[in-house]
Amino acid sequence: MPITSTSADFVDWFRSVAPYINAFRGRTFVIAFGGEVVADGKFIELTHDFNLLASLGIRLVLVHGARPQIEQHLANNKLGDTYHQGIRLTDAETMQCVKEAVGRVRVEIEALLSMGLPNSPMANADIRIAGGNFITAQPIGIINGVDLMHTGRVRKVDAEAISDRMDFDEVVLLSPLGYSPTGEVFNVTLEDVATATAIALDADKLVFLMDTDGVHVKKHELLKELTIAQAQQVLSAKGKLPDDVALYLPCAIRACEAGVARTHLISRHTDGAVLQELFSDEGIGTMVVESTLNTLRDATIEDIGGILELLRPLEEEGILVRRNRGLLEQEIDRFVVLEHDHRIVGCAALYPFPDEASAELAALAVEMQSRDRGYGEAILNHMISVAKTQRMKKLFVLTTRTAHWFIERGFVEGDISALPAQKKSLYNYQRKSMVFVRKI
Ligand SMILES: CC(C)(COP(=O)(O)OP(=O)(O)OC[C@H]1O[C@@H](n2cnc3c(N)ncnc32)[C@H](O)[C@@H]1OP(=O)(O)O)[C@@H](O)C(=O)NCCC(=O)NCCS
Repeated sequence: MPITSTSADFVDWFRSVAPYINAFRGRTFVIAFGGEVVADGKFIELTHDFNLLASLGIRLVLVHGARPQIEQHLANNKLGDTYHQGIRLTDAETMQCVKEAVGRVRVEIEALLSMGLPNSPMANADIRIAGGNFITAQPIGIINGVDLMHTGRVRKVDAEAISDRMDFDEVVLLSPLGYSPTGEVFNVTLEDVATATAIALDADKLVFLMDTDGVHVKKHELLKELTIAQAQQVLSAKGKLPDDVALYLPCAIRACEAGVARTHLISRHTDGAVLQELFSDEGIGTMVVESTLNTLRDATIEDIGGILELLRPLEEEGILVRRNRGLLEQEIDRFVVLEHDHRIVGCAALYPFPDEASAELAALAVEMQSRDRGYGEAILNHMISVAKTQRMKKLFVLTTRTAHWFIERGFVEGDISALPAQKKSLYNYQRKSMVFVRKI
């Protein structure tokens, strides 16, 4: 997100985030961060961002870790830190340190989230934090003859109770502890708590703040978006992954496979990373997306039957301009199709006008029974990135019935004069389509 210097930039930028604000209200986000964020003294900036998310009506669950604080407590008490196969062994003395360290971190976080100083981004903030026995844990047990004692894993998340708190506009803060029906406390990992909670709440987003800025191909290019299958390939590829990617990527896969729409892996070192990732098309880290059943791809001549079937009822209703098979065959290269489980459920076409650095989005359609699943928006976003790669600066659309859908996605009404010259001469005055334009 650019730091704006002029008021015009600021207005443009502010308008560009409007679609996200609309889309995120009432959605559930689970955001997880290690105790390092608190230990580094960086948490104050993050609290401003959490405050902003909460005030936009996002239902927020924060999950904190306490690893460095636990290690410090163990060292202060001259206790060793024992790991077995990468998992901390928590005996009774260690558990005491865990409880103390987690408690302290939690209090520190609650204090910072309670700030409301005037002249700060927290002015008038009124975040109420909820906590409780939301996480039921069970012991991991004995692995290869070693009893891990109070080290546990999440067995159940009380999603209803968490949801109730969020209904009252409270931010739920979860610690890496779980309780058992036998009245014991278990030391669980923050990633386990965050993933299980996101799944139980059917969250819209799960976000992990980590040391690296996302997933890279062989230390080079940052992978902005991964499907579950691609994420699995990254994990099984040769070569060592950074520790936090190796830790969080499997959680992202687990969450996405269980229906969490998106998991984001972003850097905890970048100020405003959460906002940049969530409120810009490009994002800043790596996003793992749920669907492997859906593919958005360029259309081929074999898709013509499927596209015609999709467009025909809309053409008959006068919602879309009629295209016959011949025209579709000629223009098939302009089309993309969205397939769900090998069935065409959506399509759109892009007609660039390079002289005006502007492109038309046309024939955007999603079959009736697949609407309201975000497919339309996914196709639109895809077309925006295709248009950007073709160096287009504007995307326009002519529509008779879908004005509001476009307005809610950052388009503004223009008049016929906003159209490229060639398009203007072909404008059908009888259809009286409205013109909507979005800067891209
Ligand atoms: C426009 C269209 C592609 C959207 O597809 P979709 O996959 O349902 O879109 P999404 O799931 O991303 O968005 C659905 C949201 O848009 C809203 N919406 C759908 N049609 C709308 C309209 N005409 N005006 C305003 N909002 C609309 C839905 O209520 C839903 O809102 P919610 O998320 O708050 O529940 C689809 O409705 C369609 O095929 N329409 C007919 C063809 C058309 O008009 N194309 C545009 C001209 S090229």
